[in-house]
Amino acid sequence: MRKSFVSVVTLFVFALSVCVGFAGPAFAAARIGISMPTQSLQRWNQDGANMKAQFEAAGYEVDLQFGGDNEVPVQVAQIENMISGGCKVLVISAIDGSSLTTVLEDAKAQGIPVIAYDRLIMNTDAVSYYATFDNFKVGTLQGEFIRNQLNLDSDAGPFNIELFTGDPGDNNINFFFGGAMHILQPYIDSGKLVVPSGQVTRDQAATPGWSTERAQSRMENLITANGYGPNGTVLHAVYSSNDSVANGITNALVGAGYTADNFPILTGQDCDVTSMKNILAGTQSMSIFKDTRTLAAQVVKMVDAILKGEEPEVNDTETYDNGTGIIPSFLCDPVFCTVDNYRELLIDSGYYTEDQLR
Ligand code: GAL
Repeated sequence: MRKSFVSVVTLFVFALSVCVGFAGPAFAAARIGISMPTQSLQRWNQDGANMKAQFEAAGYEVDLQFGGDNEVPVQVAQIENMISGGCKVLVISAIDGSSLTTVLEDAKAQGIPVIAYDRLIMNTDAVSYYATFDNFKVGTLQGEFIRNQLNLDSDAGPFNIELFTGDPGDNNINFFFGGAMHILQPYIDSGKLVVPSGQVTRDQAATPGWSTERAQSRMENLITANGYGPNGTVLHAVYSSNDSVANGITNALVGAGYTADNFPILTGQDCDVTSMKNILAGTQSMSIFKDTRTLAAQVVKMVDAILKGEEPEVNDTETYDNGTGIIPSFLCDPVFCTVDNYRELLIDSGYYTEDQLR
């Protein structure tokens, strides 16, 4: 009797340890490598923190790294370490979408799936999935905002505008700038919108590193060259693809004497704190809210599915070709944010407290 009790207990303990050994820690301890481009913009700190928290809450171990201040070799070295350190999945937001081909060959050779996060990684078949916001819609919302604010369909114009986008190595700018120009180009073609500088191409409008300082100095040059100012040539609008660039434009315009009363329409993206303060002060007109908590949650779901051998949920299999074919994507929905709806979007949802924006 005693003997059989002992063997039942032994069997139970053995069965339990087998279960724990195969299902518990082995799965729960899977390490995820998260590579973000920079710590110098609020956006990526938030993305990194959200993902780390959500992955850890789901039982994963996280190796979170930031690529210095947008330094490609640093990002490459960090990804190499993630691969050799046993990460089971890599989640990467590339500094330069075309600079990870070689390092990701290693990931592929070792069967490590790669999720491109927010920015598509180009020219490598190592990328399994892409999780982002609908980047073309971001640009479209920005373009529509300018069109509506200037009443381009009803007012005679002509209206002066200058154009700013982001880093030329970031594939997203093709969609931000492309989406905005898809709305604005017909008005430029008809002469209702005029770009006095003549700087109308994506490359002419680019801002390396999405740098606030570079955007500021380009805007200062445009002000000087075209005589813009509250008492000079009227500047009706400035298209900016994101907030870090918009901040530089705001600095230059304020430096030239513009105030909330005569400020040109100025777009942005990310709802960064500095931009939200500018929006409340009247020195930026709008931003695009991309709730990074939603994107992080989507990526955790994707990774879960991949590690369980299931197909992750995607909602776009047509738009994002990285040069090796279409990458199945999940696109989250961006919305525009102004002084009129920021409370509902940002405060009521717990993204910020009112105090953070004052
Ligand atoms: C883009 C991103 C934007 C913005 C920008 C600068 O790729 O989609 O939200 O943050 O980079 O970091």
